[in-house]
Amino acid sequence: MSDAKQNELIALAKEAMSKAYVPYSHFTVGAAILTASGEQYSGCNVENASYPEGTCAEAGAIAAMVRDGQTQIREIYVMGKGEELVTPCGGCRQRIREFSSTDTMIHICGPEGIRKSLSINELLPFSFGPENLA
Ligand code: THU
Repeated sequence: MSDAKQNELIALAKEAMSKAYVPYSHFTVGAAILTASGEQYSGCNVENASYPEGTCAEAGAIAAMVRDGQTQIREIYVMGKGEELVTPCGGCRQRIREFSSTDTMIHICGPEGIRKSLSINELLPFSFGPENLA
């Protein structure tokens, strides 16, 4: 992955983060996906008054990808603010896993760029996936 391409995806995650609808948590998150075939998709978290029904940024980006007929995540960038690493929640780890291959990478970002990069197996070891149902 070239630096220019990586910066493009970081910028896409940041732009998505700026659109987050978070009147309850005030915690904005953005996600950007690069597919195996080179397309890019993004998403932000969207909350609502029934707190548990809000959706994560990763879920939004995955929905946009699938809506466009794509199902193979090569890389996903997840961006949040603050000191802590904004790693995908448990549910999103499984959502990402569904569309991952063994070399799929998850880049945990702050507004300044990548803070940590993990493989899907590091993020969700011993995972249950589509193969288990084959
Ligand atoms: N959130 C995400 O969108 N992605 C993550 O990886 C972690 C958490 C959102 C959900 C909720 O809108 C807010 O962050 C606070 O939990």
